[in-house]
Amino acid sequence: MEKPSRRNVLMAGGVLGAVGALNAAAPAQASPLWTWSPKGSVAGAGEGADPRWVWDPEADELVASLLDRGAVPDVNRLLRTWTKNGQPLPGGLPADLRAFMEKARALPSWADRGKLATAFEFNQKRGLYLGVTYGFASGMMSTAIPHEARAVYYSKGGADMKDRITKTAKLGYDVGSEKAFQPDGEMIVTCVKTRLVHAAVRHLLPRSPYWTKTADERIPISQADMMVTWHSLPTTVMQNLVKWKVPIPAAESEAFLHSWQLTGHMLGIRDEYLPASWSEANAQAGQVLDPVLAPTPEGIKLADILLNLGATIDGGILTKPILGSLTRFLLGDKIAGWLRIPRDPLWDPLITTLWPPFVAVREGLLDLTKAPKELRQIYWMFDEILRQGALLFLSEGRLPISIEIPQANRPS
Ligand code: HEM
Repeated sequence: MEKPSRRNVLMAGGVLGAVGALNAAAPAQASPLWTWSPKGSVAGAGEGADPRWVWDPEADELVASLLDRGAVPDVNRLLRTWTKNGQPLPGGLPADLRAFMEKARALPSWADRGKLATAFEFNQKRGLYLGVTYGFASGMMSTAIPHEARAVYYSKGGADMKDRITKTAKLGYDVGSEKAFQPDGEMIVTCVKTRLVHAAVRHLLPRSPYWTKTADERIPISQADMMVTWHSLPTTVMQNLVKWKVPIPAAESEAFLHSWQLTGHMLGIRDEYLPASWSEANAQAGQVLDPVLAPTPEGIKLADILLNLGATIDGGILTKPILGSLTRFLLGDKIAGWLRIPRDPLWDPLITTLWPPFVAVREGLLDLTKAPKELRQIYWMFDEILRQGALLFLSEGRLPISIEIPQANRPS
């Protein structure tokens, strides 16, 4: 049970997690009809409006106006100094933005401090699994979510995926940190800034000639898209942990869900779309996430960029096949095939064979004390590779990370 330092959470839960929220791509699969009832939501009731046609009107109008009146460079400069949840907003912000942010930074009445403390315990105990699943299940899955892949590819951040991952990793790190939503934490700041970034993307992308040529939606990042990506994160992570038989006390499982419900709310998702329980989450994911997964040229390119990110460490010799095999193991042959990830004769069978007993050993479900020394060394190495790999990758991280409102799309 590793104790995550800021660094190793960033590596594991964060950096890799960042990858998750990043991309997605695929040929335009029509989004399925929204039939999920708001009765199963955090709100318990709602209008039931189809979230494919709901965005974030308050944030969207505001940020469109900031962009149109040229206020964004000053706003970004001022917001660089706003880093802690409890910190007053910087002086000099436009009045309309300040009013919005004061409202957006307030936690909902249903935020539960006790559950958030338990969520931190869970993150602490399960940092390694969270890192692997956020990174190679959520992160790589995002390249197979067509709406997200295209939006990411054609937005400004698509041209510099390493920078984009580092920024997205910040959210993955912040949500798992001890003070996440407390006054001296940073998660509220990260969410509110991300909400502004998403609003900017809704204004900018419809002006991209590349995006308009390929996308099957006029305005990106609808509430339905937000839920798809949300499920690629906590729902997918929890489904894998359950599959691997990681023992998780009910209170910890519920607390982890709570931290992500709150994240969704702070990112501007309406409470009537956020599932109230894991069974509701699984049901909704079956309706909205599974059917949209598909390859797109943009997603294939993004997946390749992501798998090559380790190349700065070893020229890609070892990292690329390992990252590819982990992706194949977590997402399966179909998605790996879509993403054109080559099969690897060494790492594919090794990961498939070693992972289940690796988890069992870590969880104390399998006793290796009497196993041959060589086998114990292999497991130790595996653990180390995962931990150090993330660490190395992140060691280039340029902290502090500042999430900024984009003013343009990808240039070409
Ligand atoms: C930006 C997280 C959903 C597309 C960001 C950033 C974060 C983030 C942390 C800021 C990073 C940066 O500025 O580079 C999330 C989370 C989501 C989510 C946690 C859901 C729970 C989506 C969806 C889409 C999307 C559904 C598209 C369909 C983008 C784009 C950017 C962005 C295009 C801006 C990249 C740029 O600056 O050019 N997101 N996101 N995100 N996100 Fe999301």
